[in-house]
Amino acid sequence: MCGIVGYVGNKTAQNVLLSGLKRLEYRGYDSAGIATLDEDKEPHIARSVGKISELEQVLSAKPHTGHLGIGHTRWATHGGVTVTNAHPHHVGNVFLVHNGIIENYKELKEQLSSYEFKSDTDTEVLAALIDSNYKDGASLKDAVAKALKEVRGTYGIAAFSPNEPDTIVVARLGSPLIIGLGKDETIIASDASALLGYTREAIYLNDGEIAVCNKDGAEVFNLNLKHLSPNPETIEGDVEQIQKGGYKHFLLKEIMEQATTLPNTLSGRVDAKNGTMHLGGPNLTTKEMRDVRHIVIVGCGTAYYAGLLASYYMEQLIPDITTEVVIASEYRYRSFHLPKNSLALIVSQSGETADTLACLREIKKRGIKTLGIVNVIGSTIAREVDGGTYVHAGPEISVASTKAFTAQVVTMLMFAGMIASYHGGNAELIHKFAKELSILPTEIEKCLNDHRAEMEQLAKKYAKYNDALYLGRDTAYPIALEGALKLKEISYIHAEGYASGELKHGPIALVDETFFEVFDILDNWLYDKSLGGLHEVRARGGKAIVLTNSKADIEADDIVRVDSKIELLMPILLNTLQQLFAYYVAVERGNDVDQPRNLAKSVTVE
Ligand code: G6P
Repeated sequence: MCGIVGYVGNKTAQNVLLSGLKRLEYRGYDSAGIATLDEDKEPHIARSVGKISELEQVLSAKPHTGHLGIGHTRWATHGGVTVTNAHPHHVGNVFLVHNGIIENYKELKEQLSSYEFKSDTDTEVLAALIDSNYKDGASLKDAVAKALKEVRGTYGIAAFSPNEPDTIVVARLGSPLIIGLGKDETIIASDASALLGYTREAIYLNDGEIAVCNKDGAEVFNLNLKHLSPNPETIEGDVEQIQKGGYKHFLLKEIMEQATTLPNTLSGRVDAKNGTMHLGGPNLTTKEMRDVRHIVIVGCGTAYYAGLLASYYMEQLIPDITTEVVIASEYRYRSFHLPKNSLALIVSQSGETADTLACLREIKKRGIKTLGIVNVIGSTIAREVDGGTYVHAGPEISVASTKAFTAQVVTMLMFAGMIASYHGGNAELIHKFAKELSILPTEIEKCLNDHRAEMEQLAKKYAKYNDALYLGRDTAYPIALEGALKLKEISYIHAEGYASGELKHGPIALVDETFFEVFDILDNWLYDKSLGGLHEVRARGGKAIVLTNSKADIEADDIVRVDSKIELLMPILLNTLQQLFAYYVAVERGNDVDQPRNLAKSVTVE
């Protein structure tokens, strides 16, 4: 969703801001803009609807030369997608960019009736509120702090004024802001990826903090303007990780690189020889691990499906624990009760998803220990959980989540393996999982290489369809859901995932020759039952694609057979095929693969 960049230093601010905004493009946006101050302290604004390239065109006609500025990618919440609604907003002496939502903006707008508002945004109201406090000798910092005390809602903001031409003031509540400390320059961003290549040292602002930035660094305060002394942290990752590396799209790169990122997820955590798994991050005592009886897994979208697959594995591994997987946007408002001795796993690639974060806070209020299964280092969820484990998938840029799904499942599986050993779990089974995990990266690589061309051909054949059903049973059920989600997200084909056994309870009524079905079939004790439905679908003219590790004869329109030593983790391999399939269908249909319409990478508002 919306992204913020700010720069103060010796370089031309426009260039740093544009390169930062491009790094944030992946989050999803519909308009963009920058505001800078030139050497004569004259402010300049450029805004445009559409891609950053449109903004670049506006700027190429009239480049900005100053060394201080703020930039923004907007994902419309209040008001349509127009240049006037795009950020930065300028009111009186204040230039402002804002992520988040000001809930009481209507009341504030009435109070600020002396201002003439040009846009429909809550952000312009906040700019006016700051401006109205920017008087009687108050500094911009004072004005921002005073204004924010009147605000209800969430924000990450960056503001400057021509009156204080060397300073950018930033603040956060519920929306991330990171201050990169470079040599004679300070770079501000809502996402650490925009800072890579400039500096590795950064201050992660906490909720309720405000900072005054100039080219020599930043001073941090709380909203009562008490001076704070946060320790700078190190930003991980490098620029290469956020480039396409020769691939046409980030999505394909991220699917294909699972074989190389997965060893980072597994590193030091699985001992295949002795059949053990260990995660340090959860920081649980032996007693806590022994006492746990209930695990609730919380997530949205792909993270939710990763949790669902992990829960099947947890049940297999841990004999005396119940697991519950919940959709964060629902759970946060439910009157839920968690038994004592529960643990909550909070699953999120970005670590910023608003609903997931809200659940984390609700669960903490009930005194239950929370553990993060998070990818983005230093993200809000990672900072607020009681403990947890980074999944170490590396930056995931494409909006549709792929490698993070695999890393999340694997991380939760290792967690389950660790807990299982304290609950009398079947040592042989734990050992088998550990062995499979240790060969998973090479088996994923083989699977992707063996079937990439095949999936591309299949995608060409099925790209013209408008409806699809994905069916799976047992551990193939969560990946049927995930396969359907992936397809609809990027190809815009209507796709639904179902448990195979549910086919007869409704969806089969839809099936005719305009539908295709993807059957995820595992060669296990439920194999025969998983075939159920295949014949019914074909008898009604539906086309069937089977993804399987079975070598048996199967009647289908297309069969993709995976030859692998992997058994228990086969759903993960079949899912990588679904990822390739969705990718190539989207390419075939000419879609914007990495930034599908209407979607955002990180959904930071409800
Ligand atoms: C958005 C993204 C999905 C992602 C979901 C949860 O909908 O487009 O790809 O699965 O949010 O995001 P999270 O960052 O919490 O995993």
